[in-house]
Amino acid sequence: MRPLPISASPSTENIHRKLIVRLLIGWIVLSIVLGTVVFFVKLEDIDDFVKELAIAESKPLIQDKQYFSHITTEQERKSIIEKLYHHIELAHFVNVELYNAKREELYKVSSKDAGLIEIERKEVESKYRTYLFSDSVAYKKFFIDGRVYLCLVVPLFDDDNKKYGYFEAVYRADDKTMKAIRDLIFGALLIVVAAVFATAVIFYPIVMAMNRNLIKLNKNLMKFTIDLTNANIGILESLGSAIAKRDSDTNSHNYRVTIYAVTLGTALDLKDAQMQSLIKGSFLHDIGKIAISDNILLKPGKLTEEEFAHMKTHVTHGLDIVGKYSWLKDAGDVVACHHEKYDGNGYLRQLKGEEIPFNARVFAIADVFDALTSKRPYKEPFSYKKTVQIMKENSGKHFDPKLLEVFLPLSVELHDKISEAEDDTLQKIMNDMVRKYFVY
Ligand SMILES: [Fe+2]
Repeated sequence: MRPLPISASPSTENIHRKLIVRLLIGWIVLSIVLGTVVFFVKLEDIDDFVKELAIAESKPLIQDKQYFSHITTEQERKSIIEKLYHHIELAHFVNVELYNAKREELYKVSSKDAGLIEIERKEVESKYRTYLFSDSVAYKKFFIDGRVYLCLVVPLFDDDNKKYGYFEAVYRADDKTMKAIRDLIFGALLIVVAAVFATAVIFYPIVMAMNRNLIKLNKNLMKFTIDLTNANIGILESLGSAIAKRDSDTNSHNYRVTIYAVTLGTALDLKDAQMQSLIKGSFLHDIGKIAISDNILLKPGKLTEEEFAHMKTHVTHGLDIVGKYSWLKDAGDVVACHHEKYDGNGYLRQLKGEEIPFNARVFAIADVFDALTSKRPYKEPFSYKKTVQIMKENSGKHFDPKLLEVFLPLSVELHDKISEAEDDTLQKIMNDMVRKYFVY
């Protein structure tokens, strides 16, 4: 058989494209994951940022103790409330409440648009009341329509460190603050995306350099595999030729039966591994005849019973030979069972029906079709019509009927194209057929 060509390696351009796509996907995924983490970390920073603003603006109220002193007249009360309203208008608070040390409400003022915010504040306050009314500054952040609000509670202590009340307020981040928050978050996200992208760009040449070495290694490995396969196929051909030379000058029989068997195997949609076994078995089916003496193997007339018994041993000799080399072992099914018959009247083990290995049943059809349609020392080739007639008569006897049913429609073209073809033509056809099953 002709040496097998080395298959093309994946092109560098392909690898570049694949790597770029994968790095892009990695960049997007990492940016999303890290961006989300950074986003939440930055949200915590916003808390501190807004808290500081809120505390700064609440100082005038916190520091004026008159708000917490005992009020005697309604007028004094009204005056304080007016001051609180005035403060709300100046600052960013939408709600201010003052409590005494017992957490009893003293004053409460809200801006005109505090409706929805007030509902949210009440919910936050009731949910986190214990946390908010503690001995240190506490706050809870909430969002309404994408704007940040902070429910802030400041415990108030006099010079003797005695708590005299609480200041509670809802701080609303104004447009300027919101822009600062957005800038803070987007700035951080931008840094993450850029950092991941820069990493991908740095990795690209490193991965490509590593890949070049892998491609080189892969090419060497592939060359080695092809060399080994060529060597194995060479062994297959040499062994097949060795026995062909015993009773014929050519390899034609081996080529033809392999073509017939592969054609049937293809029609049966056999998997690559099974097809390889079938090809090896087809080429080496009679390898055991090497051990049969010339006076029996080349005897022109009919063999005696004793001589035929000796001839039958080519099956076991063949199995011994292929069993000695792991690459040929899977030819064993065909070598050992190619003379078994579907009805159990074959040899060597008189296997019956599906007891006969599948490949041996496939090969038996190819072998007999060739025997009938070709010239032998003891007979002229039968016509196609007579061959088909004999094979049909042996359906279920010699042959698996289901397999024969698949083979017969293919046999017309095979007969026209193959049965009288020259050695070179047969070799070329067979090479083209079997090559693809041995290229990994
Ligand atoms: Fe045989």
